[in-house]
Order: sequence, then structure tokens, then C-alpha cells
Amino acid sequence: MAILFSANAFLTASLVLVVLAFFTKRKIREIYIDVLAIACSYDLLSSSFKGGEDTFHFSLFGNPVVGLRGQEARKTFFNERSFSTSEGYKMFSKAVPMPELAKTLLSAEEEHGAHFRKQLDILVNKNRFAEIIATMLSDIQRAMATWNDEGTMDPFDKINDITFLVTARMITSSDFVSHPVDFSQFQENFFTQLNSTPTMIFLPWFYRAAQREKEIAITSLFTKLTAYLETREISDASAAEPIDVLLAHGLNTQEIIQFIIGFLFGSVYNTTKAVSWILIYISLHPHWISSIRSEVEGVLSGVPIDASEPLHSKLSQVPIEAWEDSMPILDLIISETLRLTMNQTVLRRNVGEDVQIPGGNGSVPSGAFAVYSHADAHIQPEIYPEPWSFKPERFKQGISRVSNDFLGWGAGRHRCVGMRIAKLIIKAIVCLFVMNYDYDIRRTKRRFSSTMSIPVPDYNKVNEARPKGEVITLRYKRIGQTI
Ligand code: HEM
Repeated sequence: MAILFSANAFLTASLVLVVLAFFTKRKIREIYIDVLAIACSYDLLSSSFKGGEDTFHFSLFGNPVVGLRGQEARKTFFNERSFSTSEGYKMFSKAVPMPELAKTLLSAEEEHGAHFRKQLDILVNKNRFAEIIATMLSDIQRAMATWNDEGTMDPFDKINDITFLVTARMITSSDFVSHPVDFSQFQENFFTQLNSTPTMIFLPWFYRAAQREKEIAITSLFTKLTAYLETREISDASAAEPIDVLLAHGLNTQEIIQFIIGFLFGSVYNTTKAVSWILIYISLHPHWISSIRSEVEGVLSGVPIDASEPLHSKLSQVPIEAWEDSMPILDLIISETLRLTMNQTVLRRNVGEDVQIPGGNGSVPSGAFAVYSHADAHIQPEIYPEPWSFKPERFKQGISRVSNDFLGWGAGRHRCVGMRIAKLIIKAIVCLFVMNYDYDIRRTKRRFSSTMSIPVPDYNKVNEARPKGEVITLRYKRIGQTI
């Protein structure tokens, strides 16, 4: 969960603020660090610690912020109850300077989390898995069937359309996603309302038009969802759709809208990022493509199916246990891809008393923000030798939850609640793509591209996480049976 930040926007923001600083006589360095803290968090965090220190302090609009690193600090960051996520992420909202600390917030936050998990459980549970998988595979198949038999695509766009469709379908109904114009308008509004850049936060008055667009998008999202729910409540259409299940559980309009937006937000960026990067990494190491194909064939051979059926309907007969427990290759690939791509900075705010980091590693004062980059664990050679290599086999020994060395699904108190369903979405899309297409990637490096041989996401554009310093497209060709 984070906000879109781009290096360009960061540069613009820096320049504008430096000019402002000149006129307002604020200390340039202080403002510069503020901008860096927001716009360039990965780079800032990876270069700001002094030798032997696991904390560093700076200020953001006068608010104290503590950067953390190292295993002790990591444990505290993820497990400390008084470290609030909702207050933490406000740092990146337009509500700066920071609001006063809310006192009742921790219990409200915990209640909200429990509420979300309960709602999620209504839709994503073992009784509904067979239906979820079948619908999801058929949606993916329909989306892929609209592509040409061969061509070039930007995975971050094409896969995003699929993850948005699959996710929205999972929490609404077939009629909601089936109207092409309305649904694509809904999708556009969803992404518009999330569109934020550092300059928009720092200089809201300069971005009135963009802010206005966001407000229109939010209003339009809520209007559309409210009208849809009202119609659905009185409709005599099939009552087995996800939205009917939520309504039947007594959720009111506001609760359902909150749930839909929360689910889309938690799912779409992250699953798009995971699938796109998996397809990129395995194409650079094609033996993993062969391994996935063998794994899928192995799973299918255990299911009594009609060979003439299309792949998606064969796959829909694979039981949930096999999706979850009999695809170890895909599990390794997912973990390694998240290790290399989920390296964003995560945020908290200490809403309790001062918190000491064990071992004399500094403290996070009451009211201060705490920031931690996943890269501190994921790109650490002592934990992951040759950290910039794609080596899914390194996860064969399993993942230690105790030391929090793997943060792809979060850790401690705020672990991802959507992991199970997210893994299913990722596996379904990757399976259908890899089984139905031969492909390779084309890398077009930009002028100031990174010197790294392995492509990696731009960790500062946390949500989209497109390749840093290059554009990567997939050249694909449909193979075998028509899907
Ligand atoms: C590839 C897909 C996904 C990845 C990699 C992912 C990753 C994460 C991570 C790293 C966190 C912890 C953030 C932090 O520490 O601040 C998190 C939290 C969360 N995720 Fe996911 N997520 C994914 C999909 C989903 C889906 C599909 C949902 C929808 C149900 C979801 C719902 C949430 C929620 C509600 C939290 C907050 C939990 C809390 O604060 O207690 N995620 N996720």
C-alpha cells in the first residue's frame, strides 16, 4: 500500500521547493530531505544510515521521522502494537501538515482490520473456492481471448486489465463487470482517484485541476457503486453472486463500498506487479517456464478430465488443495519474485509511549513516524546470497517467520490478509499464460538506465513498479490449443 511517486515528479518537486526555499528563507537542506523522504524513499533509506547505527532521524513538515534498519529494528517495526499503519500512511496523504494524534486510534484500527477480515471470510472461504477458481479462470480466458494470436504487449497494462477484472468480479457480480464501457470507466476512475505525486502533495494549489479530477473520480466511483447496490438489492437476478452473498450477510451499502474499494486497492497493484515480474523473470531463465509447464501437466494428470475441454475449464476442475499444495515450483517463483520486487518503504506512526529499539539501537519517540525499507532484508547478502540474482530455489528450505527475513506478504501484526486469494490469482494467470503462449521479452534501455543486468522495478514508484531505467515488453505467440 503506498502512493505513486515518480523520479521525475520528485525532481520537479525538489526544484520547485528549492526555489521556494530561496524566497521563504527556509533551510534548503531541511526541505530537500523532506522531499527526499517522500519521493525517494528507497534511495534515501538505503544511503542515510551512519556506520554502526540502525536509526536515523529527520523531519517532515516539522514531524519527527525515524528510519530503521537491521533485524532488531525490523522486529520492533512489525510487532510493536503502538505502531499504527493507518496513521503511518497518512504521511503520504494530502493531509499534511500532520493532524493531531488521535488517541483512540489503535482500537479503532484493530476493529477495522478485524471487520475487513470477517468480510473477506464471507467471500473467500473453502465452500466458495471451487466457484471462485472456475469464475476466475473463465474471466482470464475471456480477457486473453481478446488478444491477437501473436504480438507485443506491455505486461503492466495488459495484466493490470486482467487483475482488475478478476478482482472486481470476485467481489461484485458478472453484470457489474460485463458492461464494457461502464466497467472501463469504473476502472479508470479507480486509478484516477489513487493518482498522487509528491508535487500534488506539496503544492496542492498548483494541481487544482488534477485534484478536481480526483474528486470527480471518487464521487463517480461512489455514485456508481451506490446505484449498483440499490439495484442489486431489489433485483431478482441469481442470488449466488459475490455481491448477493455480502448483502445476504447484512452488510450495508457503506460497508460494502468500503470493502470493495479496500479489496481492489489491496489486490490490483500487487497482483499485477507480481504476475508481470514473474513473466519477466522466468523468460530470462526459461528452464523455469518448462518447470511450470511440467508442474501444471502433473497437476492436471491427477484430475479426471475430458482432454477435449479447453485448458481453463480443465484447470477449473483442479481442487483447491492442489492449487495450494501441489504447485511448489510456482510457490518458489512467487516468493523469489516478491523478494526482488516488494522493496517498498513501509510506514508506521508511534501512537503510544516512546519505543526503544532493543540492543541500544535508538528509539522511536511518541508521535514520531517510523519508516522501514523491505530492501533492508530482501537485498541483504548475508540473508540472501547474490541478492540481485533470480534464484527461486533459495526458498526450498521454507521461509522463516521468526526472523521476518521475508516480507513479501508483510510481517508481524500487519501481515497480508489477502495472501491466499492473491496467490490463487497469480497462479491462475501465470498458468494460463505460460501454457498458452510462447514468449520472450524485449528490453529497451533508457538513456540513464540502471547498470544492473537483472531488470528490477523502480522501487520509488511503489504501486506500479515498472522496470527501472528501461521499458520491457513481451513478444508472445499463442501455441497449442486455442484457449
Ligand atoms: C500479490 C499480492 C499481494 C501482496 C504482495 C501483498 C502484500 C502485502 C504486504 C507486504 C502487506 C503489509 C504492508 C505493511 O506492512 O504496511 C499487506 C497488507 C495487507 N494486505 Fe496485501 N498483498 C497482496 C494482495 C492482497 C489482497 C488480494 C488483498 C485483499 C484482500 C490484500 C489485503 C491486505 C490488507 C487488508 C493488508 C493490511 C493488513 C493489516 O494492516 O493488518 N492484499 N499486503
